[in-house]
Amino acid sequence: MSHRRKSIVAGNWKMNLDAAKARSLTEAVAARAGEAGSVDLVLCPPALYATTVAAALGLAAGNSASGVALGGQNAHEKESGAFTGEVAPGMLRDIGSRYCILGHSERRTLFGETDATVNAKVKAVLAAGLTPIVCVGESLEERESGRTEAVVSAQVLGSLAGIPADDLAKIVVAYEPVWAIGTGKVATPQQAQDVHALVRSLLARLSSPTVADKIRIQYGGSVKPDNAAELAACPDIDGALVGGASLKADDFLAIAKAFG
Ligand code: PGA
Repeated sequence: MSHRRKSIVAGNWKMNLDAAKARSLTEAVAARAGEAGSVDLVLCPPALYATTVAAALGLAAGNSASGVALGGQNAHEKESGAFTGEVAPGMLRDIGSRYCILGHSERRTLFGETDATVNAKVKAVLAAGLTPIVCVGESLEERESGRTEAVVSAQVLGSLAGIPADDLAKIVVAYEPVWAIGTGKVATPQQAQDVHALVRSLLARLSSPTVADKIRIQYGGSVKPDNAAELAACPDIDGALVGGASLKADDFLAIAKAFG
């Protein structure tokens, strides 16, 4: 199915791999990126291996012949300073990153990030010239108690409060139902499409229908080669944020191809 928006498929490697594996996975994806067709590909390695991946992509030399982009998994909201253990958005940019995942459910549930934290990070990442990939999604308990719409609405409106329409037009949103992340339980295409349509209507409320129509909304949560095509066929699903399956070049490329 062809979308009016170019799809974007990002691999969230989380806290996995070592330097050698990060390099070989990057090389495998870069060498075969053409197989994916017309889709933006992004690799989001652990921060410590970002320079390894940048070098393997040729970003350190100021070019990216493969067309594969680099992204962070998180960033601090300040430009620099006494924040032991943190990574500044400008540092990600400095080594050639173009994207940064923000507000992933693991950051929200395990590291206490709130919509206000995510909002500050979105502003900082935009100011550094990076494209934020802003994650939202309900837990199983929230879905089962009929609160999906309320929870996702609060996350979208809170995480993106006060962002001018010009900047909103540049962001990527990832809808990741928490119950689907790492569980093998993918949302049905209808469940995903319903929330994606809701997210787009909220983005229209924050900007305008014209701007919202341009914003790419990824689905994330147990995306695999065998379920990617049915998700890609949904009108408001413009790509995927892939965890587990992004650690294997074959699987990641097969998913990208379904969106390409
Ligand atoms: P998963 O993770 O593909 O392993 O479910 C997705 C994510 O957390 O971004």
